[in-house]
Amino acid sequence: MADKKGVPKIWGGVNLDHRADKFNASINTDKKLWREDIKGSIAHATMLKSTGIISDCDADTIVLTLSTIYKEIDSGKLSIDTTAEDIHSFVEATLIARIGDIGKKLHVARSRNDQTVTDLRLYVAGEIIKIKDALTILMKVLVNKAIENLDAIMPGYTHLQRAQPVLFAQYLLAYFEMFYRDRDRLNDTFKRVNISPLGACALAGTSFPINRTYTAELLKFDTVSRNSVDSVSDRDFVIETIADLAIVMMHISRLSEEIILWNSHEFKFIDLDEKFSTGSSIMPQKRNPDIAELSRGKTGRVYGDLFAILTVMKGLPLSYNKDMQEDKDIIFDAIDTTKACLEVLSPMLEGLRIIKENMLNATEKGFINATDCADYLTSCKGVPFREAYDITKKIVEYCSANGFVLESLPLEIYRTFSTLIDNDIYEAVNMLNCLNHRNSQGGTSKQSVKHQIDVAIELLKT
Ligand code: ARG
Repeated sequence: MADKKGVPKIWGGVNLDHRADKFNASINTDKKLWREDIKGSIAHATMLKSTGIISDCDADTIVLTLSTIYKEIDSGKLSIDTTAEDIHSFVEATLIARIGDIGKKLHVARSRNDQTVTDLRLYVAGEIIKIKDALTILMKVLVNKAIENLDAIMPGYTHLQRAQPVLFAQYLLAYFEMFYRDRDRLNDTFKRVNISPLGACALAGTSFPINRTYTAELLKFDTVSRNSVDSVSDRDFVIETIADLAIVMMHISRLSEEIILWNSHEFKFIDLDEKFSTGSSIMPQKRNPDIAELSRGKTGRVYGDLFAILTVMKGLPLSYNKDMQEDKDIIFDAIDTTKACLEVLSPMLEGLRIIKENMLNATEKGFINATDCADYLTSCKGVPFREAYDITKKIVEYCSANGFVLESLPLEIYRTFSTLIDNDIYEAVNMLNCLNHRNSQGGTSKQSVKHQIDVAIELLKT
């Protein structure tokens, strides 16, 4: 089929200059869509048969040959000829090479403009399902880690300053919530992706009596697009999907950053599984969090992909313009990068060893129970909060200068700041009590966290 000059152009005319030909081609990118392209063509041929646009016999020959081509590519018997212009040209040329003039009947009542966007919508819909599954696995790991480490207390941070004691599980469940919203967002996007543009043809529809609902059903699209010009012009489904993935990556990046910090000797809240950390070539003591760092770094790529596609689309008049061929490189990169990060993040998290003693030790520094001292003065002793705050600030300054913590400061010294303070102060500033008193809805008390876990388990069933 393909001689030295390559696969013949389906649009005929003079041969392109070889540099222009190379520049114009998209086969090296869109060959990834071979499955969708053949399935789309089979659906199209089936519809052409049912509407009588081509004969039953021709349609059957086309469908049978396309199925054989599919199987051969799948098994590796047939390789995709990258001298073709794009995957659509390759499949059609292969078909024609095998069945001659009958194969030439396939391209009636369609165009590469609706074909390429049909393929891409099918592909993106399939990938969204895979990414949602990967997010579900990640959420399960987070919930399991929370259950396993329900007794681990750590300082919660604001401004990266120790702020208040929290359960480590509360942090993990915070990430659960973010990834849950990400999955929800993809669910919503899916509705706008899984729409069939097939039959919009070049831009204006066709005079042939096609049945677009039928091809949509055959390809498992949920609905049919309403306007032919929009169908071939729109790439907002690409933009929306990449925007969703950029948010997923932002969350992955923040969790990665957390892991990098926690793994540092300054924190040492966790140890990374050796299978998910690397050594240094010259410093034998190091276990580097490369996987988390790379995930953080790759977030930049996906943000770049989002900006790239937004910029490609911003100035285009309707309908199809060749600029839009760039969509595929961009979305493939965003999808592949996000999938690669998710694939490695879940097992890395699963293998984390939590060093509870270090987390607890960290809660004992930084006066993260200072709010509780002020709350005690207000709720138990009736001191207005602003005043309680000032008293506590002075107590903390004293402790800090004299090597005490709130738990160890003798009562007589406490009473020099306020005679209202009694022995019950020690109950109030006990770290575990501080934590469990935060029993408001969504708070960090053990009871509240257990409830969040129950809800998370229920949500994972849906
Ligand atoms: N490879 C092209 C793309 O991905 C297919 C559509 C070509 N259509 C055209 N009129 N040149 O955009």
